[in-house]
Amino acid sequence: MKKTLMKFAALASVLVMMLALTSCGSDDTLLVVTEATFPPFDTIDDDGNIAGFDMDLMNAIAEDQGFKVEYKDIGFDSLIPALEADEADIIAAGMNSLDPERQAKVDFSTPYFDSQLVLVVADSNTTINSVADLKPDMKVAGQIGTTGADEANALEKDGKIAKAVILDKVSDAMLQLQNGDIDAIILDKPVTESYIAKQPGIAKIVGSPIGELESYAFAVQKGNEELLEKINTGLKNMIENGTYDELVAKWF
Ligand code: ARG
Repeated sequence: MKKTLMKFAALASVLVMMLALTSCGSDDTLLVVTEATFPPFDTIDDDGNIAGFDMDLMNAIAEDQGFKVEYKDIGFDSLIPALEADEADIIAAGMNSLDPERQAKVDFSTPYFDSQLVLVVADSNTTINSVADLKPDMKVAGQIGTTGADEANALEKDGKIAKAVILDKVSDAMLQLQNGDIDAIILDKPVTESYIAKQPGIAKIVGSPIGELESYAFAVQKGNEELLEKINTGLKNMIENGTYDELVAKWF
């Protein structure tokens, strides 16, 4: 009887220890949110996993700085709210950091990629060669919550187009362009190039870049200086040790 009790106590304490270990493990795993229709930065690989330049770079930073990450794919317009609601720790989503409204809500890391918006039309389109060719009966798409959507909305407000079509996914915008449902998209240049490289003939870039230069950065909750410091140090290390360049070569 005594022996059984002791065995039970031993088993119970092992169980308690295991529980403590598992909860500890998930505690130091940070949740990184993204929107994964934004290749080559944020996409879904052939196995259905969230992958891309942003993920590889963040994984390298996390490994260098001794923290663990897991990824979740949500709407682009839900990324900042997720940080504000303490439902996520990091945004890795090709997000332009040079935006005062965003800067008021989250803290951005050192920028890791310069970008710019472009006007995208169907490959067969011969009438739109620049923003100046847009007409008051046309529809121009942008992804919800993005700088591209801001530009499309501004064109609508100025009466330069009939409607800014705000879509959840960049992939949907590409489909609508192919179907002729919209006349153009305003989208980040490297992402447009990635879609075209994968499906040649679906679209083309016309005219010169639109709007201000963008600088992509990771974002953390406002005031999370400790995590921001780790990300910045890790990023600096990855640039110095050549990992950053390797990832650029891999994804671009
Ligand atoms: N660079 C643009 C912005 O910051 C678009 C980013 C879209 N990113 C994404 N993962 N869908 O607004």
